Amino acid sequence: MSGRHTAWLLAGVLILPLAAGGEEAPPNWVTEARQGAAELGRNLVSTLQQSIQAEGPVAAVAFCRLQAPEIADQVSTAHAMQVGRTALRVRNPDNQPDACEQRMLELMQARLAAGEPASQIEVFAVHNDNGARSGRWMRAIPMQPLCLNCHGSNIATPVAATIDAGYPQDQARDFEVGELRGAFTVTVPLHD
Ligand code: HEC
Repeated sequence: MSGRHTAWLLAGVLILPLAAGGEEAPPNWVTEARQGAAELGRNLVSTLQQSIQAEGPVAAVAFCRLQAPEIADQVSTAHAMQVGRTALRVRNPDNQPDACEQRMLELMQARLAAGEPASQIEVFAVHNDNGARSGRWMRAIPMQPLCLNCHGSNIATPVAATIDAGYPQDQARDFEVGELRGAFTVTVPLHD
């Protein structure tokens, strides 16, 4: 993690916000990154919904704690890229952004505040570290009504207690619907 962090700082990375019209096709690795992130998103949301419906939000917190990192690992392995989530305010300290992710998140937050639809807020950059190239891609994750159960300002007491127990340093509360909750973040090794 810290190695990656340093590399980003040294690289003078170019951040390319995608044009909404998308006249030019993005590189292949961006398409792959989108697919990896979409798969992670689908898996997380479907298992989260099932878990809430079956056992309620308290059990779903425990589910998230155990399953979210595991699902991210599975998707990463299957796609041969690193697929995860990050945010300016994290619940799990393992999801803390590095310096470049932090800048990209701030950029995304400004774009969302300026009225751009969250689904279009995507950034990518090629990073060159002494010839070892990798692609980095991020897409905004907005707050939705379902998320209020665990990231809102009025979290049910037993749910809040479960979150406190699992995440004593939790920063991911008091979000409102439509705000930037975080982003998918993907790193793709580039060989060509
Ligand atoms: C049942 C409670 C629960 C609900 C509902 C929930 N989350 Fe979370 N969320 C968590 C927990 C617990 C974590 C920490 C997971 C981990 O340990 O990796 C988390 C982590 C995250 C992260 C990763 C960054 C961080 O803060 O660590 C994002 C992004 C996120 N949630 C977005 C959402 C969105 C968007 C929704 C609604 C679609 C949502 N969550 C609904 C409990 C929940």
